[in-house]
Amino acid sequence: MVVALGISGGIAAYKACEIIRGLDKAGVEVQTILSRGGARFITPLTLQTLSRNTVLSDRTGPGDGGAVRHIDLTRRIDVFAVAPATANFLAKFARGIADDFLSTFYISVTAPVVVAPAMNSRMWDHPATRENLAILKARGTRSLEPESGWLAEQEQGVGRLADPERIVQAILEEAEISSLLANLHVVVTAGPTREPLDPVRFRSNRSSGRMGFSLASAAARRGARVTLITGPVGLHTPRGVRRIDVESSAEMRKAVLESRADADAVIMAAAVSDYIPPRSEGKIKKGAAEIDLRLSRGPDILMELGQSRGSEILIGFAAETENLLDNARDKLARKNLDFIVANDISVPGIGMEAGENEVTILDREGNTHPVPRAPKEQIAGRILDHVFRGRSR
Ligand code: CTP
Repeated sequence: MVVALGISGGIAAYKACEIIRGLDKAGVEVQTILSRGGARFITPLTLQTLSRNTVLSDRTGPGDGGAVRHIDLTRRIDVFAVAPATANFLAKFARGIADDFLSTFYISVTAPVVVAPAMNSRMWDHPATRENLAILKARGTRSLEPESGWLAEQEQGVGRLADPERIVQAILEEAEISSLLANLHVVVTAGPTREPLDPVRFRSNRSSGRMGFSLASAAARRGARVTLITGPVGLHTPRGVRRIDVESSAEMRKAVLESRADADAVIMAAAVSDYIPPRSEGKIKKGAAEIDLRLSRGPDILMELGQSRGSEILIGFAAETENLLDNARDKLARKNLDFIVANDISVPGIGMEAGENEVTILDREGNTHPVPRAPKEQIAGRILDHVFRGRSR
């Protein structure tokens, strides 16, 4: 296993030594990349001695094989980790700025990325840092949040680099999960659908798309080929995911039926509109005091998949406000699914629009598997790990 370890400028740079040691003990080859700031805190000689590898940095010129090594290395590595990651490097990674070796390396990498931020608590709390980290996480980057304690500036707060042992553990885990779903094609739907009333108006629902996007991201992190079919949402496309944007349920149906041909699993996390209004060609003008809107049943995409199933695993979601498990069981049977993920949307703080969820996974054999409340990114990983147990190729 090969890990590229980026070290950016901060007092915690010295802790990179422990990370290299931990990885080395686990039999991992480490290739360090030192930023200009990092080199003010730790010497290349230390890193070279511990990793038994030359150190890459801005000073690695084409003459040293730098330009070639950088692309060559992106192909060889299993994980790219950056510890410590400064506020500046999080910003560069989030925005794709490539003005030095480490940031240029980041935008060339396809391997899973782990960052361990370390900085003063004021910088950590700044909205710019929060936004940059949110972008990286949405892309599938694993972040080991800094710990709270005494900082170098003689004040207390959150900002200390996570424990090096935890960082080593996270890197090893990332490498391990990155091939769990290799060679599988996973189709995920997300978000709401919009059913047009006229050229300017539509009916829709409150789905944020986060559950579906988290599933797509988690599947890509596990090495799957992922097609994400999404209604209109304001979310960043996860790393390594092919995204197809749709609006109406009819468009979503078409995209799903096309993508399922060679799919190993279809996960319907989208909140598809059940009832469709008639569409007026021209804008509906204000006139009468009341107007009637007669809605007709639209396509039930998942039902259609269940009726014409091949060997793919079919996973549905059941958003319920009452009789959660009974209704979910009924949907699982009616739609001929392998699994259904039941979530109670009447509980405040979880489900639609929320960042967290708490679900129960039901299968055809009548088993129930509860997944306790957690951020949707974690719930997504647990759903995939449950559904694909023993099924990876
Ligand atoms: N679904 C679908 N097409 C629809 C409605 C739902 O493919 N027209 C899928 C959803 O993506 C989800 C599952 O079916 O995976 C269940 O969705 P849900 O809205 O909970 O159930 P419905 O079948 O719409 O039943 P009801 O609204 O009566 O609860």
